[in-house]
Amino acid sequence: MKFKLLIAVLLFATACTHNYPPASINKIRVSWTDDPATTITIGWDQLESKNPMVYYGEKDRGRNWKRYKKSQKPTRIVNHLGMNTHFCNLKELKPNTAYYFVIKDDSGVTDRFWVKTAPDKPMPFTCIFGGDTKSTGEALKAGEFSNQMVAKLRPLFVLFCGDFTNEGNNSDQWKQWLTDWSELTKTSDGRLFPIVPINGNHENRDMEVLNKVFNSPYQNNNTKEIYYSLSVGGNLMDIVVLNSMINPGGAQKEWLEKNLKEHRNYTFKVAAYHKPFRPHTQRKRENINEYNQWAYLFYQYGVDISLDADSHMSKITFPLKPDSINGVEGFIRDDKNGTMFIGEGSWGASPRGNDDDKPWTLRSGSFNQIKWLQVFPGTKNSAAHIDIRTVITSTRDTLNRAVSHVADVIPLTEKNIFDVPKGIKLFSTQPYGEVITYPFIGRN
Ligand SMILES: [Fe+2]
Repeated sequence: MKFKLLIAVLLFATACTHNYPPASINKIRVSWTDDPATTITIGWDQLESKNPMVYYGEKDRGRNWKRYKKSQKPTRIVNHLGMNTHFCNLKELKPNTAYYFVIKDDSGVTDRFWVKTAPDKPMPFTCIFGGDTKSTGEALKAGEFSNQMVAKLRPLFVLFCGDFTNEGNNSDQWKQWLTDWSELTKTSDGRLFPIVPINGNHENRDMEVLNKVFNSPYQNNNTKEIYYSLSVGGNLMDIVVLNSMINPGGAQKEWLEKNLKEHRNYTFKVAAYHKPFRPHTQRKRENINEYNQWAYLFYQYGVDISLDADSHMSKITFPLKPDSINGVEGFIRDDKNGTMFIGEGSWGASPRGNDDDKPWTLRSGSFNQIKWLQVFPGTKNSAAHIDIRTVITSTRDTLNRAVSHVADVIPLTEKNIFDVPKGIKLFSTQPYGEVITYPFIGRN
């Protein structure tokens, strides 16, 4: 006990002796742009001073930049949307490992942050899927509540399915989004969560914006063709990030088929894009061309989960097989081999009515929400599966004000990441309750 006290006093004294002034840096975020087991991209807005350098390592050295083992200069600088965005790609990292870092510039040193790399072999993890935030009013507020939920759930990563701001080329709106993200999704112990960004129609005014804000990968040497894929946990999960705002056929379809073929033997295949094939609100039009180009490929190559957004409400379907002849709106239920479609994006945007259910809709709802997934590889005792929960982050009161359902949630810690936190508000409908498990067959 005395020994522990001594260590605590020493640590406190060390922290005090490194009372550096702050760096001239804000809007710090991390994104996945390459193999997430060995690389991480740190991005920030460099304000007034110069010569930033990321100091990092596996040991937590607090703000004492000199004691970190490694350092890295910015790997890319982009002046865009009134921001002096710097990216630092950290490479050759160890899988499933915590990395601590600070950024030092001529003004001083940032707070100490930390990130975790993805495992390179199958192991359980959690992640958050969602999309659609707005830049003003109650919708902005609701989005901030969902951001706070990220910090409370400590996912391995967040898949953000498009529509970040009202106007994708608006500097003030992007600055606000990035400030909210960096401040509200951060945990009290400085952990940051990698974002996997996806292009939505509100990014149409600046089709390169995700590359310039998050360093997102693109295809065909064209920064406007932002689609890419990532693997998590070795062959546990392949994630195909598609772009529904450019031609879904042609080069993108060819790329999709090639990717799905290559990852055919992965345990779980996930596809994510902005526009749903079949929206669950009447306010949105059908996306038939996208369905024609992608739905049959999803089925042919065994895509397990499809994530979409755009409608501003919540849906989960039964596993579905495309059938444009016998199906209702092109789909029939196929619990054994079908794709489960989850969405439809109300991270912050004002919820629309769920007034367009189909015979194959498992459940739908109208509120602000994110999808929380717990992914488990197969073991001796249980088959590989994904537990999907719809977390209600905000609802509207009688005056149409956004009410938080996040404030009373007891945050998870690094030790209980697979628990369900006390105070969380989960969407529950009979007979399935709060958890929908994929594969669906034999479980429900
Ligand atoms: Fe949209």
